[in-house]
This record gives sequence, structure tokens and C-alpha cells, in this order.
Amino acid sequence: MAQTGKIVAGVLAPHPPHLVYAENPPQNEARSEGGWEELRWGYERLRRNLARKEYEVLIVHSPHWKTVVGHHFLGVRHFKSLSVDPVFPNLFRYHFDLDVDVELAEAVCAEAESAGLVTKMMRNPDFRVDYGTITSCHLVHPAWDKPIVGISSNSDFYYFSNEVGQAQMIALGEATRRAVEKSGRRAVLLASNSLSHRHFTEEPEVPEDMAHEHIYHHGQYLWDMRLLQLMKEGKCRQLVDEMPDFIEQTVSEAREGSLSWLMGALAFPDYPAEVHAYGTVIGTGNAVVEWDPERA
Ligand SMILES: [Fe+2]
Repeated sequence: MAQTGKIVAGVLAPHPPHLVYAENPPQNEARSEGGWEELRWGYERLRRNLARKEYEVLIVHSPHWKTVVGHHFLGVRHFKSLSVDPVFPNLFRYHFDLDVDVELAEAVCAEAESAGLVTKMMRNPDFRVDYGTITSCHLVHPAWDKPIVGISSNSDFYYFSNEVGQAQMIALGEATRRAVEKSGRRAVLLASNSLSHRHFTEEPEVPEDMAHEHIYHHGQYLWDMRLLQLMKEGKCRQLVDEMPDFIEQTVSEAREGSLSWLMGALAFPDYPAEVHAYGTVIGTGNAVVEWDPERA
């Protein structure tokens, strides 16, 4: 394979099912009156940027496909089924119909294995793709006319320490980049996690009633702003260095490794990221952030 492939964009693309619910796409059974506009308009700006780029595949690392032994990769060409959010079945009952770039998934799997990581191709044709993968992909590219590569969250190394877990995810990201370059593909990478993750314990009667939506712990807000500032200043080495503390103090979903994977894949950007939006969903901090290596 010729070494012509590249990552054309990396995105922090959080997956609250509320954002899909609020858009009322035909795939989702639940109907809403809107809500969470700031984040949804951020995704719109991201989509406009990506529409100007040529790419063939989306590679997504999702916190909600949890695997305990090894990093798993979707390994079946087509999936079609119903995805129901286990916490919010009233909001997200989504009929998905998606294609997988199995050849690229196998290449990433092999590259990670040769770097010493434990890996596995997921070959069950009846597998129910997790809602994190579906939601991030839908919000970034709702046309679903490009195949995806789905990567699980093998976060068991974080039980040892955040530092060790993060090192594992960075190695996976670096392997992902090498595989993309060798494959000849032009890829957009999606890290599906949110930032701070303290959330409400009771849902409002009307879920999209924005009178209830806010961050409810100032320390969480300050941490989110600190991370976003580092992204905007192109200080991603420092971001990765500080992430173990961030994860600890904000019960962050970054503990599932998606953002660290992305930083490894992008080789720790030293150029400014574009923060398209920040907002809360049930109190958790979510940001839509784009790294554009070509513009850099
Ligand atoms: Fe989540």
C-alpha cells in the first residue's frame, strides 16, 4: 500500500443522545421541541468546515463500547438495527444503517497489535453498535454516506492509573495514524467523549426545557475552560500532561480514552484548535472542537 493517506481533521465530538433527540431526524422515534442549540449550532459549523474537505472514512473511538480485554474494532461490512440508550430510552431509539471500512479497521488492528497492544476484530453480524458511536457519527455527518471504523474503549488500564491508561490510548492513536497513512485513506477522526461529567440525578418533566440546563459545579466549569484554553493555544502536550488530574477532579468521560487516542493520532497538536461550541447536557460539559492539520 502506498503511503499517501492522511488524517484531514480530528474532532472532539461528544455524544449526548439529547442532541440527536433535539434535531428530530427520521431515524429517531422520539420527537422533541428542540433544545441544546448552542452545541447543535456548533456541530453545524463543524459540518460546514468538513463539507469543504475530501475524505472517505470516519474513525470513531467511543466510550460506550466498553471492552475489558483488548481494543476491539467493528469487523462486519454492514450493520442495521435499533439502538436504544439504556439511560434515556425516552429520548433515543435510533434506527441505524451503517457501513464499515473493514479493510482499514483490520489495518488499524494489525498496526496496534504490532505495537504490542491487545486487539480483536469484532465479527458478530448481530452486534448492536453502541449509541456513542452512532450519536457522534450522526452529529458530524448525518448523511451516513461514508463508511466508519469503530474502535472500542478498552479502559481497564485506567484502573491502574490515569497515566497508564492514557499511555495505552496514545499508543493506540499513534498506531491509528500509521495505519491511515499506509492505507491511502483520507480520514476524519472522532473522539466521542464529553469533558466534565457531573450530571443531574433527576430528569426535568420536559427534557428539552432549557430553564433546567446549566453546569452545577463551578470547579467543573473552570476545569473545562482550562482544557479548552489549552486546545485553543495549541498546547496539547500540556493538555495531555494535565489530563490525569482533570479526569480525577471532574469524573470526566475522558477516562474512557477517546481524547487521549485523538491526541496520539494527531501527534499532540501545537497549532490552535477551533472550538465550535461549549455547552452542558444534563449538567455535563461538552465541547465540539476541531483540529485541522491541513490549515495548520
Ligand atoms: Fe457518554
